[in-house]
Amino acid sequence: MPRIAVIPGDGIGLEVVREARRVLEHVAQAEKLDFELKDWDLGADRFLRDGITITDEEFRSLDEDYDAILLGALGDPRVPGNQHAKDILLGLRFKLDLYINFRPCVLLSPELSPLASSEGALRLEIFRENTEGEYTGMGGIFKGDTRDEIALEENVATRKGVERIIRAAFEYADSRGRGRVTLVDKSNVMRYVGGLWRRVFSEVGAEYTHIEQDAMYVDAMVMDLVRRPGRYEVIVASNLFGDIVSDLAAEVTGGLGLAPSANIHPGRNALFEPVHGSAPDIAGTGRANPVGAIRCVGLLLDHFGHREAADRVEGAVAASFQAGQTTPDVGGSLSTEEVGTWILQHLDAAYAVHG
Ligand code: NAD
Ligand code: IPM
Ligand code: MN
Repeated sequence: MPRIAVIPGDGIGLEVVREARRVLEHVAQAEKLDFELKDWDLGADRFLRDGITITDEEFRSLDEDYDAILLGALGDPRVPGNQHAKDILLGLRFKLDLYINFRPCVLLSPELSPLASSEGALRLEIFRENTEGEYTGMGGIFKGDTRDEIALEENVATRKGVERIIRAAFEYADSRGRGRVTLVDKSNVMRYVGGLWRRVFSEVGAEYTHIEQDAMYVDAMVMDLVRRPGRYEVIVASNLFGDIVSDLAAEVTGGLGLAPSANIHPGRNALFEPVHGSAPDIAGTGRANPVGAIRCVGLLLDHFGHREAADRVEGAVAASFQAGQTTPDVGGSLSTEEVGTWILQHLDAAYAVHG
């Protein structure tokens, strides 16, 4: 039985994970799927209480004793610099070597997109490298707090790291019938790192000649993503470019509150979290959109091989938009909990019809 660690975290993380958990428990019961869920108290409250962000033993346990993690968000204005968020979130991604950060963005209804020209069906799937790039913390300060201060933040790219995420993107496109993979980089300026990405992209791409492939500079690509988003299918990018492109892609497909993500090391572990953060500006008001977190449940079910159950969750989310049963960020008037309840009831009705 898969064991899932649930880490609500901070701010709206607690509110959206409550709804996601309800959906997961409900689907598991209706479909007779066994999941063991265990809550973990990691976040700003714990850090402020006892000065601990996350221990080595907790990393070990999350890696070895669990098959997946469902996380809300980390970040709290009471913690300067958000050290706990970096330790926990980046710590999990790095220590569990969750090298694929998969971020699908699906437009459920044309009017949700801020783009007047948006097509009805828009589906962008981002494969963000999740263990290297500018995120490794390699660097430092020389002559700090003087007029001669020097700050370095290294961009780390290994052939192994670049190759495995590019391969994951092509494998996904191949297995899910997607027609195009686009590499996003800045190889006109970053010759060494960018050059490695381009070479490996051509090498791996040569094994998938039936899939269209192109490589674009990130500045031109984000412009084009707004101009004609329907041109893009699977996108592969480094850690930092993937971070930036995925927020834009989320907005183009209806908003940050709707986007889920899966941080995966195939065969080892997986961490599911909405793309958005802890949103301190709306935390505690009941206005947080739970759909990004609920879609994480869909990704989790898919990850464990329950594709039909995942489709039902996605179908219930789509139905909530068709019925206008949404939170204020997407034009509705329901609370976080009311959206969760509506989706549960819709799932019940679907189970009653289809068994
Ligand atoms: P954010 O994603 O928390 O919020 C950006 C804006 O989007 C805010 O106006 C917020 O109200 C809105 N928003 C976000 N999610 C929403 C939802 N589900 N429903 C409705 N509106 C929503 O980004 P931020 O303000 O830059 O960051 C806040 C904190 O979260 C920071 O500490 C940041 O480091 C952290 N953060 C954590 C994660 C994570 O844990 N994965 C991701 C991003 C940011
Ligand atoms: C995300 C977030 C994180 C990132 C931050 C909070 C460290 O923006 O998950 O997209 O940059 O990866
Ligand atoms: Mn981000």
